[in-house]
Amino acid sequence: MCGIVGYIGQQETVPILLDGLQRLEYRGYDSAGLAVISRGKLTLRRSEGKLRNLICLAHKSPLPSVVGLGHTRWATHGRPNEDNAHPHTNNKKTLAVVHNGIVENDRILHKELEADGYKFHSDTDTEVFAHLIDKYYTAKTPLETAVKKAVARVKGTFALGVVSQQEPGKLVAARRGSPLILGLGEKEFFLASDIPALLPYTRDVLFMYDDELAVLSNRGIKLMTAKGKPVKRKSTHITWNAIQAEKGGYKHFMLKEIYEQPQVVEDTLRGRVEGLGGEVVLGEAEMPDLFLKGLKRVFIVACGTSWHAGLVGKFLIESLAKVPTEVDFASEFRYRAPLADKNSLVVLISQSGETADTLAALREAKKLKARTLTICNVVGSTMTREAHETLYTHAGPEIGVASTKAFTAQLTALHLLALYLGRHRKALTPATAAAHMDRLRQVPRLIEDVIKMDKHIEEIAQKVFKHRDFLYLGRGINYPIALEGALKLKEISYIHAEGYPAGEMKHGPIALIDGRMPVVAIANNSSVLQKIMNNIEEVKSRNGSVLALVTKGNKEIRRRADWVIEVPALNESISPLITVIPLQLLAYHVAVLRGADVDQPRNLAKSVTVE
Ligand code: AGP
Repeated sequence: MCGIVGYIGQQETVPILLDGLQRLEYRGYDSAGLAVISRGKLTLRRSEGKLRNLICLAHKSPLPSVVGLGHTRWATHGRPNEDNAHPHTNNKKTLAVVHNGIVENDRILHKELEADGYKFHSDTDTEVFAHLIDKYYTAKTPLETAVKKAVARVKGTFALGVVSQQEPGKLVAARRGSPLILGLGEKEFFLASDIPALLPYTRDVLFMYDDELAVLSNRGIKLMTAKGKPVKRKSTHITWNAIQAEKGGYKHFMLKEIYEQPQVVEDTLRGRVEGLGGEVVLGEAEMPDLFLKGLKRVFIVACGTSWHAGLVGKFLIESLAKVPTEVDFASEFRYRAPLADKNSLVVLISQSGETADTLAALREAKKLKARTLTICNVVGSTMTREAHETLYTHAGPEIGVASTKAFTAQLTALHLLALYLGRHRKALTPATAAAHMDRLRQVPRLIEDVIKMDKHIEEIAQKVFKHRDFLYLGRGINYPIALEGALKLKEISYIHAEGYPAGEMKHGPIALIDGRMPVVAIANNSSVLQKIMNNIEEVKSRNGSVLALVTKGNKEIRRRADWVIEVPALNESISPLITVIPLQLLAYHVAVLRGADVDQPRNLAKSVTVE
């Protein structure tokens, strides 16, 4: 979750570090700091709270410099305060480190270093790096060798940046289990934990892999394995430009990303639904035919919103490919002794590709000899390198912590996967597959139709935003959308909201119904419409209030519901891609009306890279 930026070149470093950290703010943080070599001396500036505090500090006493590191910290060990803010230094204050990840053996190392006479000034795990590097950093040992020896002693995960006033012409980077990207400029080089920090300066990047080190200097970048063996790697050209990662005129990243969804669905379909032949082309995610013929079970594993996408995926894979499919929370999967084996496909859904629980589940699945496929939005992220196959969602950078466009991109990818499995297992005729693809091609336009009702949805939000509790009801393939709608509301507006299968209401939640808890019912035309209309009746007859999502023209519900949002007539299998949109907009407008920090909700991070 932390943000890391490093720079070495000919420009003033501090403005570049601060600008880079601002572009990573969405990752969630609670303190910030920077370390530069200024006038030959290692100099730090650190502050608690928002980045603006660090910016004021840095402007108070300018620091001329051409090399340095910046960091935004999301506390995992030790309270969010200045002492615990990164960078951390050795006792001589001649070298500084920034770190993202967790040192699992920090207590043992702490003891050893204290016995060696080192003094600790923070209660973070990161500080052990500063003293451990110092311990190995002798006059004849280059900084990268000291770092190599130090990280070899560490158990856990790290994305590490190191700078030393003894060797001001270099930055050293090391990574294991936490993303770290190198930016290639004109005689200047960058280090970052995520791509948006680099975009204003370069679009050519090198992704570091686990157990690699890098030395950045004016002469270029030397990449090597943890054992020091040189590594040759082609750079990746990032097509996202800086504007794409900016808000593009919207008030919040989240609103921009909700509006981008028609394009995102189109981009995720692009090049994969060839012609009318009903064939799906998954490119990098194609699996061996022999495996597909022997496939017995699919496991879908994810967290949060991605898990909701997985629940929809179960419906799609079982109906289109006729393969039994289970859906697991990633944090539960590896502790339940799952019966996955060489005839299983384990699908890991993750926007970031770095979520610790989902990454651990991926590794567990591989231990069980299952084939692993990740549906992921971030090129070069850890999961995309460890899974057998990757099916990329082309959602572009999702900056808002609350996931929206990544979710609809995941749903689109799951349609493609279900079609692909169905066709390759002869469970789906080309004509049936082609008809389904035609329906998918309509989705961008259908989403646009719903987005046009944004003003109407905002008016409804104005009527309900003061409530403290909400209940979301859905049935069948839209039950996961009830869960997703509730999650969107709770995570950005801090209102308690629960998603429930509508049929379960009478088994408990109905006791909660009164005028103070609006019930959001997903009641578009479907095979279970009558059932959900009965649920609406149950709520109304107990003086509850109902916001109903209905198919255009359904007059009956309009008479009973307090508020109505109309969606176009939809084929049931693609309906989640559209019914989720009004719920995203409702959550957004309620959160704005409540003055919440929509893009960076409290306590949340964009990517949960710790368990
Ligand atoms: C969704 O709005 C949340 N930000 C969160 O539930 C998220 O979906 C979850 O942490 C999984 O993240 P991932 O998709 O990057 O693995």
